[in-house]
Amino acid sequence: MTTLSRPDAARNASPYLYGTEVAAITEVLESGHYGHTAVTETFERQVADFLGVPEVVAVSSGTAALHAALVAAGVTAGDEVLVPAMTFCASVQAILAAGAEPRFVDIDPATMCTTPDLVQEALTERTTAVMPVLFGGRAIDLTPIANLLDQRGIAVVEDAAHAFGSHDNTGRKVGASGHLTCFSFGPIKNLTCGQGGAIIPRNPEEGDRLRTLRLLGMVESAADRAASTTYQVTATGFRYPLSALNAAIGTAQLAHFEEATTSRRALWRTYRDALAGLPGVELVDVDVEHSVPHLCVVTIPDRDRVWAEMRHAGIGVGVHYPPNHLQPAFARWARPLPATEQLAGRILTLPFHQHLTEDDVHRTVTEMRRALTTEEAR
Ligand SMILES: Cc1ncc(COP(=O)(O)O)c(C=O)c1O
Repeated sequence: MTTLSRPDAARNASPYLYGTEVAAITEVLESGHYGHTAVTETFERQVADFLGVPEVVAVSSGTAALHAALVAAGVTAGDEVLVPAMTFCASVQAILAAGAEPRFVDIDPATMCTTPDLVQEALTERTTAVMPVLFGGRAIDLTPIANLLDQRGIAVVEDAAHAFGSHDNTGRKVGASGHLTCFSFGPIKNLTCGQGGAIIPRNPEEGDRLRTLRLLGMVESAADRAASTTYQVTATGFRYPLSALNAAIGTAQLAHFEEATTSRRALWRTYRDALAGLPGVELVDVDVEHSVPHLCVVTIPDRDRVWAEMRHAGIGVGVHYPPNHLQPAFARWARPLPATEQLAGRILTLPFHQHLTEDDVHRTVTEMRRALTTEEAR
């Protein structure tokens, strides 16, 4: 049996630090200001420059980003939001938190992403938003139905939790497509703030609305409130600011994002080459030329046994995701989703993070081949 000797290598996912994060946090700790501060605003400016967009609204998590974005888009009780069942439960919980209901939509098995046709088929009179999930980091092009969605006043709220740094096939960065795009900067994302998220508003008014929403409906900054005997609460709002501590980590990480891009693409290509010719194994395509890959997922026969044997061999395989329309909390919105259901028992996520070496990839693929051949021999 081959095992991976370094603890990080055995994990399915792992944060990657570049060495500058600790000093960045220490500086904020010593400053004594841990809320939304100028450090958060510097991070917002740098992310906006990186993406090539006018402004970015930083929030406390990807889930908070999705929730606030839906509310800013006007999604409310009685509305339906289309969302693939093949996503992290956070996408669905954000829809419910906005008071709306999820309408689950199927995916293309080759990419695990939804498509314009599948979205169009699933629209109803009550649909007020569509939440495409950029699975594994892959951009989704809804241009073929953009006019239809516009005419019906349906917002596109992109769940780009996996896709920070990715481009669409025209070379435009995810976030710069004119949709309401939401990123996660959680622990294992392409860029981490420890915890954090960001929303790319579609216009300046939406930016203002989101800034009010993320800070309990207050308009004045903490500094302005401290310098005044009163302050104004002008709208409903949430406690969703990005702490300066988390923003400092994000700023330190962003300076090294080129390394993340190079290393994640190289890793994905190494897997692709190593997996070629493995019988019955199909790689889910992340469009590596345009993406900063976040996951490496294959479909494989006899998934549960292969998963167990690889775990036993110390390889951190996982499953992204158990479909949400089959989760007890979301069962009342279940409807048949043939591709999602077919994939549910076949998908396997391979270890994918920046600590991995080419050798780790080859060991993983060797263990997978071994597990597959064991079955053939039975
Ligand atoms: C597809 C997807 N959507 C939303 C989220 C939520 O992001 P966060 O964990 O930052 O709240 C995640 C996080 O794992 C995710 O993978």
